[in-house]
Amino acid sequence: MAKRSPSFACQNCGAVYNRWKGKCEACDGWNTIVEETGSSNPMVGPVATRPSRAKGRIFPLEGLSGESKEAPRTPSGIAELDRVTGGGFVHGSVILLGGDPGIGKSTLLMQATAALANQGHRVAYISGEEAVAQVRLRAERLGLGQAPVELASETNVEDIVATLSQGRPPALAIIDSIQTMWTETVESAPGTVTQVRGSAQSLIRFAKTTGTAVILVGHVTKDGQIAGPRVVEHMVDAVVSFEGDTGHHFRILRAVKNRFGPTDEIGVFEMSDIGLREVSNPSELFLSGRDLAAPGTAVFAGMEGTRPLLVEIQALVAPSSLGTPRRAVVGWDPSRLSMVLAVLEAHGGLKLGMHDVYLNVAGGLRITEPAADLAAAAALVSSLSGSSLPPDTVYFGELGLSGAIRPVAQEQSRLKEAAKLGFSGAVSPASRADKPNPERLPLAASPIQHVTDLVAGIAARRKRSTA
Ligand code: TYD
Ligand code: MG
Repeated sequence: MAKRSPSFACQNCGAVYNRWKGKCEACDGWNTIVEETGSSNPMVGPVATRPSRAKGRIFPLEGLSGESKEAPRTPSGIAELDRVTGGGFVHGSVILLGGDPGIGKSTLLMQATAALANQGHRVAYISGEEAVAQVRLRAERLGLGQAPVELASETNVEDIVATLSQGRPPALAIIDSIQTMWTETVESAPGTVTQVRGSAQSLIRFAKTTGTAVILVGHVTKDGQIAGPRVVEHMVDAVVSFEGDTGHHFRILRAVKNRFGPTDEIGVFEMSDIGLREVSNPSELFLSGRDLAAPGTAVFAGMEGTRPLLVEIQALVAPSSLGTPRRAVVGWDPSRLSMVLAVLEAHGGLKLGMHDVYLNVAGGLRITEPAADLAAAAALVSSLSGSSLPPDTVYFGELGLSGAIRPVAQEQSRLKEAAKLGFSGAVSPASRADKPNPERLPLAASPIQHVTDLVAGIAARRKRSTA
C-alpha cells in the first residue's frame, strides 16, 4: 500500500491542507486545523478498495415525462413542523437539524418522536449527549413520559445501526447529536470532520436501506454555521435550522435546504414551561406589546414562504458624538441598511451623516426580504423627524438605488393579513400597470412611486400634528 501523506483538515469548514497552519484560509478560523488519520483526504472519505470491474453494468435511461410517485411521508401531527418538512418526514430521508445550544432542539425532537410514537409508529431517540435519565426527565416535564419512544444513550454508530436494524425498521430515528458520534471505520477522535463525516455516511446508508427517516442534530458555531461538518450539509436531504435568541420566547424553524419540500416556509414555536407550543398566528405574537405613539416604528407586512407575517421594524436615529457614526442592525442585513440610508440621503434629502443609526426587527425575527426596505426607510424617517407613523398602517416595497419604490410579490396576501389584524391602510408600491385587472384590495392602499413621496407623507403628518 502506498504511504499516506499526513493530511490536515479544518475542524470548522472541512478544508484540507497538506501541512499544519495556524489559520484556515477557507473560513478564517484560528487553530482549527488538526491532523487527521484514517483517510488520506477527509473530503472524499475512505478510498474505495473494491476492484474495478472491466465493464460497467448497463442501465436504462428514462425520459422526463412519465409516472412518478409522491415520496411517502410520515406526518408528525405538529403542524408547524410538518409545514417546514413539506408535509412530514419522507421515508429514508436524512435531515440535519442545526441550532444554538439550548435553543430547544432536543425538546422539539422529543415532542416530535412522542407524537409519532403515540400514533403507533416505531421511533428511536439516541442521545449521545445526555444520559437516559436526563432524556426521561425532559419527557416527563413535557408530559410525554408515557409515549412509547425507544430510548438509548449511545455514541457508537455501528452499535446504533445494528440495534435499530433489528425487527421492524423505525419510522424515525433521532441522533442527538452527530458531533458526539463515532465510527470504527475512521481513526480520528469524535467531533473531528472525518469522524462526523464517516458517522453521517453510515447513518445515511442506514436510512436509505431501511427507509427510516433519520434526523441528525448538529451544533452551530458562533457565526451560525453548523459546526464541524459543513460537508455533511451536502450529504443530507434537508438542512433545517432552529433559530431564536434565548432572550425571547419564540423559536423559528426554517428549512435551508430541502430536497423534498419548500425552503422558504417557517414554523413558529413558543418556548413555554411545558415545552414548545405551536404558534399558528405569528403576526399577532410579533406585534404584541407595540408602542403605537412612539416615533421610529413601522409595521412591515412580510412573507415567509406562503405565509404572510407582520412584524415591527424599529429605528433609532440620534446625533452622534463619534467621528464615524455608528450603524447597528439586528435581524436585518447591514448592507441593506447602508443602501437604504444612502438612498434616503441621495433622493430623500435626509442628512444622516452625523447620526448614529440603530435598526431592530422586534421579537428577534430575522428578515431577508428586500420588501422590508420601505418599512425600514419609513421607520428611519419617522425617528429622524420625531413624528410617529400612523399606527394602523403597514409598509412594504423594495427600494431601488434611484429612489423608486418597486413592486414586490404577493401583494394581496400581505394586504389581506394586515386587514385581518385590524390595519386599515398600507403604504406600498404602485401596482404594476401591466396587471390585467387588479383585484379589489382588502384595505385602503396608498401607492407611492418614489422615496420622496414617503418622506413628504411623513413630513405632512408632522405638520398636521404640530399645527
Ligand atoms: P434543549 O431542547 O435541551 O436545547 P438544545 O437541545 O437545543 O440544546 O432546551 C433547553 C432549553 O429549553 C433550556 O434552557 C430549558 C428550556 N426549556 C423550557 O423552557 N421548557 C421546557 O419545557 C423544556 C423541556 C426546556
Ligand atoms: Mg440537546
